[in-house]
Amino acid sequence: MSDLIYLDNASTTYPKPAGVYAFMAEFYRSHGVSPGRSKFGAAVEAEDMVRGTRRMLADFLGGTDPDHLTFSYNASDSLNMVVQGVLRDGDHVVTTNLEHNSVLRPLYHLEQAGVIDVTYVPFDVDGYVDPDDVRRALRKDTRLVIMNHASNVIGTVQPIGEIGGICREAGVCFAVDASQTAGALPIDVEEMAVDILVFTGHKCLLGPTGIGGSYIKPGTPIACTRFGGTGVRSADRFHPDEFPYRMECGTLNILGVAGLRAGVEYVIEQGVENIHGREMSLWERARDGLKEIESVTLYCADTPENKIPVLSFNIEGLEAADVGAMLDVDYNIACRTGLHCAPLAHRQLGTERINGSVRPGIGPFNTGDEIDTLVGAVRRIAAAKRGRAVA
Ligand code: ALA
Repeated sequence: MSDLIYLDNASTTYPKPAGVYAFMAEFYRSHGVSPGRSKFGAAVEAEDMVRGTRRMLADFLGGTDPDHLTFSYNASDSLNMVVQGVLRDGDHVVTTNLEHNSVLRPLYHLEQAGVIDVTYVPFDVDGYVDPDDVRRALRKDTRLVIMNHASNVIGTVQPIGEIGGICREAGVCFAVDASQTAGALPIDVEEMAVDILVFTGHKCLLGPTGIGGSYIKPGTPIACTRFGGTGVRSADRFHPDEFPYRMECGTLNILGVAGLRAGVEYVIEQGVENIHGREMSLWERARDGLKEIESVTLYCADTPENKIPVLSFNIEGLEAADVGAMLDVDYNIACRTGLHCAPLAHRQLGTERINGSVRPGIGPFNTGDEIDTLVGAVRRIAAAKRGRAVA
């Protein structure tokens, strides 16, 4: 894939830093055993690596207790556990129109079963959720506010700290889907008053797929929804209540944890702000180039402030999927197209009826030349369409 211009980093970052591939191969070869189950040397060392990674990530996210940093398959997996573990019959939930199906679908299932009632807060014309709208949506029976830190469609970063303060004051649990921001923006769960923060390993934390998790503030009421082997108190009939076991069962993805650890180490070494600053300057270069093209519509891209490096656009008269196919086949540029698993966002943007948008997602290894190639390709595709339209 040497000539590929990879601009689908909002789906998953690619490539990973060289150290991620190297540490995964090395650690799995030397310590690919079951961590936390046995007392032989390699098992204890594997468990040490896992515990060290919990500590590193808890610190990185502003958490105070490494045992409350729990692992899962990915953000969707953790979000399912959060929705099912926090909510009870008769509860009200507040969420937003910017959510991914990883939040929406677990809610829809409970809503359809008549277990919960959900309020969907819209975003403003620039793509931001107004904290006062969240405040107004709260009711006496609201148990949970759940929303993303940044939209995977338009890249807008939400005022999480302010919304966290509102939730804390109201005594409502606040869960944040940080799929697009963990590793991309500074996060401090204490400062932001976040009770549950969900992350995935394979995006901005630069780890592999198949590993994600959550940081759950000590004292947050959340029930265990999965049961099985933990390697501790095995004679008990019931799954242990204590963390991290409450949120984990079965053999841990040691290969995934190793890769995630190396990814987080890379992010810490480079500095979140440095990576973000570089990516946002490429975002501006792409935005400035694309907005000059007649017949290109950009969504919520007026400013780089409070953004992650994701852009959404369409070319008049063309389906997003067709633009994506042309970028792929004619220019070897990879972008995600369609609804990006966030149908309500596209409905509110008015792009659902045209099957979504084209979404370049910029990552740490993209270059200015690649952005210029993208802009040039979109310019030619748009011009060809206009030519055909007038012919
Ligand atoms: N949630 C990922 C995306 O936005 C897969 O593309």
